[in-house]
Formats: sequence, structure tokens, C-alpha cells
Amino acid sequence: MKLSKFGEKFTSHSGILSLMDDLGNALADNDHMIMMGGGNPAHIPEVEDIFQQRLQRIVDSQTEFTRFIGTYDPPAGDQAFCRELAAMLKRRFGWNLTERNICLTHGSQTAFFMLFNMFGGEDSNGRNRRIQLPMAPEYIGYTDSGIAEDLFVAGKPDIEEIDAHTFKYHVNFSNVTVNENTAAFCVSRPTNPTGNVLTDQEIETLDSLAKHHDIPLIIDGAYGLPFPELIFTDATPYWDEHVILCLSLSKLGLPALRTGIVIASEEVISAVSGISAITSLAPNSAGCMMVSDMVRDDSIISLSQKIIRPWYEERLRFAQQVLHDQLGSLPWAMHKPEGAMFLWLWFKDLPVSSLELYERLKKRGVLVVSGHYFFPGMNEEWPHKNECLRVTYTRDQATVQKGITIIAEEVRKLYGQ
Ligand SMILES: Cc1ncc(COP(=O)(O)O)c(C=O)c1O
Repeated sequence: MKLSKFGEKFTSHSGILSLMDDLGNALADNDHMIMMGGGNPAHIPEVEDIFQQRLQRIVDSQTEFTRFIGTYDPPAGDQAFCRELAAMLKRRFGWNLTERNICLTHGSQTAFFMLFNMFGGEDSNGRNRRIQLPMAPEYIGYTDSGIAEDLFVAGKPDIEEIDAHTFKYHVNFSNVTVNENTAAFCVSRPTNPTGNVLTDQEIETLDSLAKHHDIPLIIDGAYGLPFPELIFTDATPYWDEHVILCLSLSKLGLPALRTGIVIASEEVISAVSGISAITSLAPNSAGCMMVSDMVRDDSIISLSQKIIRPWYEERLRFAQQVLHDQLGSLPWAMHKPEGAMFLWLWFKDLPVSSLELYERLKKRGVLVVSGHYFFPGMNEEWPHKNECLRVTYTRDQATVQKGITIIAEEVRKLYGQ
């Protein structure tokens, strides 16, 4: 088969594909594997009940059902839904939005593909423009999404050591160099994999830099504000004309309905919906129909705050306690878990690479993710890149206890303790 450059790039080795394959194969080979590697949202019974009832109402109404399965929405998504969402965001946060500032996509992953390639890559002056990731480690899902090679640039963060076993990354603004080749900033808030939540101050500084250089600041709110609000610290929802806020219904509990939401200037929204029309005609109608009532009466926010966030927070507190009990005085630290659904563990001066540790854990029946995957755009050598693991803490208590105990045993062996 003869492929184009695009064909070659997108069919050759991709980090996310090999990671997903490896996790999938390991699970298929061993039914008893303890899965602490995935990013699937938890199946929270109360949330599933709400969606099941909503789905039943749709199925019971001939008009709604026909829309659910049988009608193409416009390329930007159902306009009545976008209008309701704009009204809710205006009501709650005072953002000056109309439906022309919002479009829907097939999951937010697709939105990032469109946005990154819309701004980054070769421009009409022959300049190779890149997406700057001010907070590394960053989401692995960005890594291979550029049509151009080397689309991303990232520098090291500052590390604040909060106590013996807790640290936090901060944006190191001296590493955020902006020049004529900088196409946009992008940050996930909360950050996958670390659970970091950029402070309001960091977001404001990035936004003023973005404004000053007239480039967009893309904020990936897949776990963030205002929904599903997997945030356990103080953080303010943020949007303005230079910001492209990407939300998703996935972590609210609807990943299979593939619904991403882009909130941006009218110019950006019309460009994204234009690309959507070419690549997919119309977004999925099912996701927005499932949550339209919740947007109309703001209950999407109370659901996030009263049911979803506390559910994750309870699991987090348990996993944190087990970590302290099991890892004790070993040279380990955890990123302050401020959001999302992961623990980011740092084993200082680890005698083997994090990938080797991942392999050893896989042999012991525990699946985690090696941290080295999460540094898109950072080419410089840094031992820290090979000393971290991402551990998903959302399983039941017995499983989390067992998984962390095995992690601690393997790590203790490595340190010879
Ligand atoms: C940080 C982050 N952004 C975006 C996505 C994409 O999510 P979706 O395409 O399901 O909206 C994910 C998925 O896990 C993620 O972790």
C-alpha cells in the first residue's frame, strides 16, 4: 500500500495506540489483572440512573426518538442546545456568549485534532508554527495529533516540594518562550496525568501573554470547570475572547456518546464547525439530548458538585491513605491530587526506568501507565521523565488496596529496602 505523508504519519507507531493496545492485550491475557491504568470514567450508579431515566423519556417520545437516531444536526451541533448552554454559562459566570460561540464535536479529542492543526503547522508564509504546552507533564493524547512533525513544544515546570511525600508542579514562565512561531498555548486543567490544577493566577498570566501575542489559549477542561468538576481545590472557571475552552461529556459519564464542546470566539467556532462539516458532516446528537434538561435547569453543575466530585474524592482519600501506609519512608512523592482521577507518583532516583517498573508491575498483575509517555514536546533530557507512574485510583477499595500493596512491594525491592 502506497501512503501519503499523512497516511504514513497516522499509521506508524503512535504512543497512545501502543499504550492502549498494551493495556488491552494485558487485560485480555489475564482476567485477574488489576486495572489502574485507564482513563475511563467511573460507573457511578446514581449518575447512570439519571441517564437511564433520561434515555427512557427519549425512547418514549416519538419526536425525541426520531431526533435521537434519525436526524443530522447542523455542523456546529444542535443550535437550541448551544443557545441553552450559552445562556447557562452567562447566567452562572457572566460570560458574554451566544450560540455562535459554541460548537459540538465528536468527543473533545476530535476538537483538539482540529484546533491543533488549524493553528499549528506550516502557515502561508512558510513558517512552521507550534503549539506551546506550558505545563508538562501533559496529556498523552496530544502527542501524535499533529499533521506536521514536532507540533508541540514544552519546557520543564517548577517543582514545589510541599512535604516529604507531596509536590506540585507550577508553570515556569521563563520556559514559556513566545515567538513568531508560537501558534497557541494549550493546557489541560485539571492536568492528565498529574491531577495538577493550574492556579487562577497561572491561567490569568497565560491569558495575558496570549492576548499580548494575539494567540489563543486553549484550556482543556475534560475533567474541569464548570462540569464534571473533578476538582478538589479552589479554581475559577475561565473564559474570554482569546480562550478556547474545550469541554466534554465523557467524564460526566457519557464517553460512549462522543460529545465534545468548544467555547470560543465566533471566528474560531465558525472555523471548527467548517472543518467538522468536511470531516464528519454533523456531530453526534445523542450526547446533547441526554443533558439538555440539565443545562436548562443548571443541574449539570449540581450533579457534578454533589454526586460526581464527592464520589471521586472519597476514592482519592482512600487511595492516598493506602499509599502512605504502604510506601512509608521510601523515596516517593505524589503530586498534590487537585483534580482528575489519577495519582502521579514520583520515585526519586529510581534504579530502573518507569517503563521497566511498569513491566514488572504488569508481570505481578497490576496495570499502571509509565510516566515517560506524558512529556509531549519536551525533548530535553530530564531524569524525572523516567521516574514517574500514573495510577488510576477509581476502583473499589479492595482492588486499590491490593494494587498499591503490589506497587509498594516492587518499588521496595528496587530500592533494596
Ligand atoms: C485531558 C484530556 N483531554 C481530552 C480527552 C478526550 O476526551 P473525549 O474525547 O472523550 O472528550 C481526555 C480523555 O481521556 C483527557 O484525559
